[in-house]
Amino acid sequence: MTRGKLVAGNWKMHGLAGDLDAVQAIAEGSAAHRGVDVALCLPATLIERAVRALPGFAIGGQDVHAEAKGAHTGDISAAMLRDCGATLTIVGHSERRADHHESDVAVRAKAAAALGSGLDVVLCVGESREVRERGDAVPVVRAQLAASLPDWPGDARRLAIAYEPIWAIGTGLVPSIEDVAAMHAALRDELAGAYGEPGQGVRILYGGSVKASNAAEIFAVGDVDGALVGGASLTAADFLPIVAAAAAAD
Ligand code: 13P
Repeated sequence: MTRGKLVAGNWKMHGLAGDLDAVQAIAEGSAAHRGVDVALCLPATLIERAVRALPGFAIGGQDVHAEAKGAHTGDISAAMLRDCGATLTIVGHSERRADHHESDVAVRAKAAAALGSGLDVVLCVGESREVRERGDAVPVVRAQLAASLPDWPGDARRLAIAYEPIWAIGTGLVPSIEDVAAMHAALRDELAGAYGEPGQGVRILYGGSVKASNAAEIFAVGDVDGALVGGASLTAADFLPIVAAAAAAD
């Protein structure tokens, strides 16, 4: 099945008004690669300004609350993200699972809330260094996905899974191509079990130290349908070669 590639940037807690120039350069540069879906998940403070400046370019959030509204100081609802023009959101990033003690059950509820409000979802899973070293990465991440997956969204394009080994995030370390292939194949199998044939359209991204220098090799893996990129998504100079590598891989 041809799923097409999705390359999403996760700016994490980076970006002030002056950095909107970088968003613009990325949006304009990405337009040359029409076959690749490109999105930037920005800090909430920049979303509306980015959407106004670049209508038609996909801007997302990095987290969402599971409830529609209420007494949740500092949190953002799916309707709020939609209201400022976001079209997608990340849920279950390992930094949120660690810093905010988000469980699989909580991540599943966030994904359901986002999908129910019309946001597309990038759902993150990934193992710790300890789990990888003891040889349990595949069963642990598979179980994490099974417990975090929302009900079938009705359209495979509305959901993407991001496999992000925690030990590969921001470290310059990347699993072997064989390990990436084995994990993505296992997650593809898990999606088939959960959603049946329509689930084959759900994209599985790799994330963790993706750079221009390793993107082509990662995108050549059969079950890798794109990337979730942190540090290398902050500038057009670093990010656009990754988008170009995705375009060349299809
Ligand atoms: P880096 O690309 O900086 O390793 O971050 C990956 C990540 O966590 C994206 O969500």
